[in-house]
Amino acid sequence: MTRRLTALITGASAGLGAEFARQLAASGCSLILVARRVERLQAIARQLQGEFGGVEVLCIEADLSRVDAPEHIRDQVSVHGWQVDYLINNAGASGPDFFGTEPWSEHLDYLRLMQTSVAELCHCFIPAMLERGFGRVINVSSVSGRIAAANNCHYGPTKTYLIALSEALALSVKRRGVHVTALCPGFTHTDFHATAGLDDLKQSTPRFMWYSAETVVREGLQAVEKGRLVCVSGRFYRWLDPLFQSVWTRWLLLRPE
Ligand SMILES: NC(=O)c1ccc[n+]([C@@H]2O[C@H](COP(=O)([O-])OP(=O)(O)OC[C@H]3O[C@@H](n4cnc5c(N)ncnc54)[C@H](OP(=O)(O)O)[C@@H]3O)[C@@H](O)[C@H]2O)c1
Repeated sequence: MTRRLTALITGASAGLGAEFARQLAASGCSLILVARRVERLQAIARQLQGEFGGVEVLCIEADLSRVDAPEHIRDQVSVHGWQVDYLINNAGASGPDFFGTEPWSEHLDYLRLMQTSVAELCHCFIPAMLERGFGRVINVSSVSGRIAAANNCHYGPTKTYLIALSEALALSVKRRGVHVTALCPGFTHTDFHATAGLDDLKQSTPRFMWYSAETVVREGLQAVEKGRLVCVSGRFYRWLDPLFQSVWTRWLLLRPE
């Protein structure tokens, strides 16, 4: 009997993570769902089990800003005898975006959530994928990671790191059955902005700049299947991205005073 593929998704209790869970369950994967709000994970698990009969789901409570979280996740996966074929590093939030009077520990927690935990989970699961000759990794970055902006001293740079990490990993494992993709969404309808207290952004930005989680996740899964290193999601952002990368835009936006 062939084994069902298993997807581990961080930040699966809402938004893009919950949509990754839905689309991967629909494609026949078993799921390992990770987040802090375990009761929400369990509710999503019950819903998906109802919708896609027989889907197996393991819920793991973890706060990825804690130094021991990736190891805890790896231990739980191994204790339950599961293996990871799809790794979706999706958990994320808005954070301290300038260096003010807040304690450094706040920044460190944020860097762990957005950066270190992603690298550590790749370190935990990619070697076994290489041994089996199959793996799919999506690191959810952002169009914010494509260009520097004032007062975006943490969120954007952590997302830039995820792009660089994904590209380097993808080049290191290519032709060994493991694909790694950095998924770069623009504005997406999720809980992200409400959680960050940025609800009014939706009113002040044009509707064409907003995409559904369904579109972003579908494009990300197609991109990793094709072995693309970076997937800028949404037609508008695919049009904008070459402008961000152009020498002239960078000269205009990033020139010294
Ligand atoms: N929405 C956008 O416009 C947009 C655009 C570009 C990129 N992104 C990226 O997309 C990813 C998903 O965000 P979303 O838009 O789906 O936002 P969301 O609806 O707010 O979901 C965020 C998810 O991350 C989890 N999370 C947050 N902090 C965590 C922590 N310390 N430990 C473990 N899990 C944590 C949350 O779960 P718990 O609270 O239950 O822990 C939740 O499941 C993020 O990496 C974000 O940066 C979003």
